[in-house]
Amino acid sequence: MTKMNRRDAMRFAGVGLGSLFACGAAQSASASPLPQTNPALVEGTEAWKYAIIDPEKVARDAYYGYHVGHCMHTTFTSIVTNVASALEKTDPLASAAMLNFPFHMLHYGASGANGWGTLCGSLNGAMAAVNLFCANEKTLKAICDELGNYYERTMFPNFMPDDADPLPQSISGSVLCHVSVGKWAQVSKYRTDSPERTDRCSRLSADMAKKTAELLNLNIKSLNVEEIAPIVALKRPEPAATCIKCHNKGGTTSNTIGKMTCRECHPEKTPDHSLQD
Ligand code: HEC
Ligand code: HEC
Repeated sequence: MTKMNRRDAMRFAGVGLGSLFACGAAQSASASPLPQTNPALVEGTEAWKYAIIDPEKVARDAYYGYHVGHCMHTTFTSIVTNVASALEKTDPLASAAMLNFPFHMLHYGASGANGWGTLCGSLNGAMAAVNLFCANEKTLKAICDELGNYYERTMFPNFMPDDADPLPQSISGSVLCHVSVGKWAQVSKYRTDSPERTDRCSRLSADMAKKTAELLNLNIKSLNVEEIAPIVALKRPEPAATCIKCHNKGGTTSNTIGKMTCRECHPEKTPDHSLQD
């Protein structure tokens, strides 16, 4: 990595990434060079610097920030802004660059990607944050799998805002917004256009942001170091683990892609069905 000179550093801290890249595009004709390095980068990798953050604080920020841009936005933003705060004293340039992230681009994730009810935005934002800080593929995949497994099998929501009552809880069994919200609506009897449903998704975002912070903290040493194995606990349960071995990419049949809980949608299938009939 080329070291930034002082003037580059000042420019970086002063103008922000968004305007920097915009002006870079406009200037490319006149060949005025951009700073070669982003101060938030971990040297020699594509990952951004990580520092230990307080999961409880991250959860609160995610909950209270939900109104800004919904589930994906708040989950991602709460993690990244807390890392920026953690770096503020030791590495102010990295911290400033981090706060200039174009956070608005996470709004699309609301309600399972623009309301399509696919991947839950809190999980999407959580995985995006992990990827920002982790360029090591093995660790990235391990933490993202852990988050998917955790999302599917945990009774949500758990976060308790100040002076609030607990909300009804449900287990999604799926990473899909559609299934997750649908099951919660069934259990709670609240409509999806109710303030309670919004509150439920705000609390769920807080829960996912907290879990992500814990996992990043736990794996700080292996984020970008190949030699250190990631620390995760949750394995894919049966029968999905067996279904995946045949049907997922690289499996013996290899005719679809996915690690979801198969029997949510193929309830009649057993792992040995290919041997039957
Ligand atoms: C030993 C490998 C193997 C395992 C394990 C396995 N499958 Fe299959 N599956 C096959 C093969 C081969 C076919 C295509 C031939 C057939 O239909 O029997 C198939 C077909 C299917 C189909 C589409 C065809 C149909 O008949 O509906 C679905 C859906 C499916 N499997 C789901 C699952 C699920 C869910 C699991 C886990 C509970 C699972 N499979 C476990 C090998 C496997
Ligand atoms: C959210 C619902 C959902 C989940 C979860 C799901 N599937 Fe499917 N799957 C579908 C739908 C819908 C189709 C396409 C409809 C069809 O062809 O029957 C499909 C198609 C398939 C097919 C091809 C079917 C064919 O006709 O050949 C296979 C194989 C399959 N799924 C296996 C799996 C496995 C293995 C898992 C778990 C890792 C899984 N599915 C999880 C909904 C789901």
